[in-house]
Amino acid sequence: KTVVVLFGGQSSEHDVSLVSAKNVISNIDPNKYFVLTVGITKEGKWMLYNGPLNHIETGEWEKLSTPAFISPDATKKSLIKLVGDKYKAIPIDVVFPVLHGLYGEDGTVQGLLEMAKIPYVGCGVLASSVSMDKVFTKIIVEKQNIDQASYVVIYKDELDEMDKAVSKVEAALSYPCFIKPSNAGSSVGITKAHNREELIEGLKTAAEHDRKILIEETIVGREVECAVLGNKDVKASLVGEIIPAAEFYDFDAKYNNSESKTILNADLPKEIIEEVREKAIRIFKAVDGSGLARVDFFVEKDTNRVVFNEINTMPGFTSISMYPMLWENMGISKQELVHKLIELALK
Ligand code: DAL
Ligand code: MG
Repeated sequence: KTVVVLFGGQSSEHDVSLVSAKNVISNIDPNKYFVLTVGITKEGKWMLYNGPLNHIETGEWEKLSTPAFISPDATKKSLIKLVGDKYKAIPIDVVFPVLHGLYGEDGTVQGLLEMAKIPYVGCGVLASSVSMDKVFTKIIVEKQNIDQASYVVIYKDELDEMDKAVSKVEAALSYPCFIKPSNAGSSVGITKAHNREELIEGLKTAAEHDRKILIEETIVGREVECAVLGNKDVKASLVGEIIPAAEFYDFDAKYNNSESKTILNADLPKEIIEEVREKAIRIFKAVDGSGLARVDFFVEKDTNRVVFNEINTMPGFTSISMYPMLWENMGISKQELVHKLIELALK
C-alpha cells in the first residue's frame, strides 16, 4: 500500500508539523508501506519530497522538492506529480495528514480527502473542525455535563468598542483570565491577563490569529493529558501530566524550554485517573472522533475536580509530545502506533 504523509502546512504550527512528520515517517516500516512524503509550504504550495529526513525540520526540503498535489477527483485517487512539463498520476491508498492547526487539523484537508475518496488517518471533517474551534468544542462538552472553565466569546469586530468588550469580560470573569484565539494550536496567540491592561493587549494579540476570541477563567490545578485511539472500539491511555517551566504551557515552554517536564503516570488517586480516561473517551465520541486525539484536562487544586481544557485531533508527535509517549507507556511502540493509525484509516 502507498501512504502519503503530508507535512508542514499553512498554519502557525508549520514548524511543529515538520518535527512531528519526521517522527511519523521514521516509524513507518518501508517493508510494509511505500511512503511518499508531500510537504506543504507556509504559502500553501504542495510538493513531493524524496530526500533525507533531517532536511524536513530545517526547511531545506523545499528546495529539493517537485510540485505535486492530491487530486480531488475521486475516480483518480492519485497524487499528481509534475514531471518535466507533464502531469503524472501516482495511485495512492491512504494519507497521513501530519498537519497541526488551520488547514490541517480543522477539517479542510479532511474535506479534500473525502471528495477524493482517499482514506486518511484521524478524525473526519466535523470532528476536526469542532475540535479545532475551542468555542464549538465547549458547546459540545457542555452537553456532556463535563466541567470546564467558564468563558466569554468576543468577536474581533467588538474590539472597535474596546471599553464595551472589556466590560463584557469583566462582568463574567475575574482576573487572571486566559485569552485564546478560538482556532489555533500549540498555545499560539494565547496570553494570560492579570489586569485590564493585559486583557486589552491579549484581546488584540488573539485577534491577530482569529476573528473569534475565547476568554476563560483560570483553573488553578494540575495539567493532565490523556491519549485516545480507535474508531468504534476506543481506548484511552493512562494519564500524563505537564509541568510547564513558565506560568502556563505556552509555545516557548512547550518546544523551547527544556525545563518543562512531562510525567507519564500522573501521581493522582486512582479514581481521578479513571475519571479522566472515561471523560476523554466520552468527549472523543461526543465530537464524533475517529482514529486519534489527545484530550487535555485540569485537575483542580484542593478539590481534585476534573475540568476539561481542550481536545487535539492531530496531537504533536515530536520527541517531547505526550501522545506517542503515553502509548509507549502502555506498551505500544511508536512504530506499532503509527501502523495502527494507518490500519484504522483503512478500516
Ligand atoms: N497542537 C499541538 C501540536 C499539540 O496539541 O500537541
Ligand atoms: Mg491544541
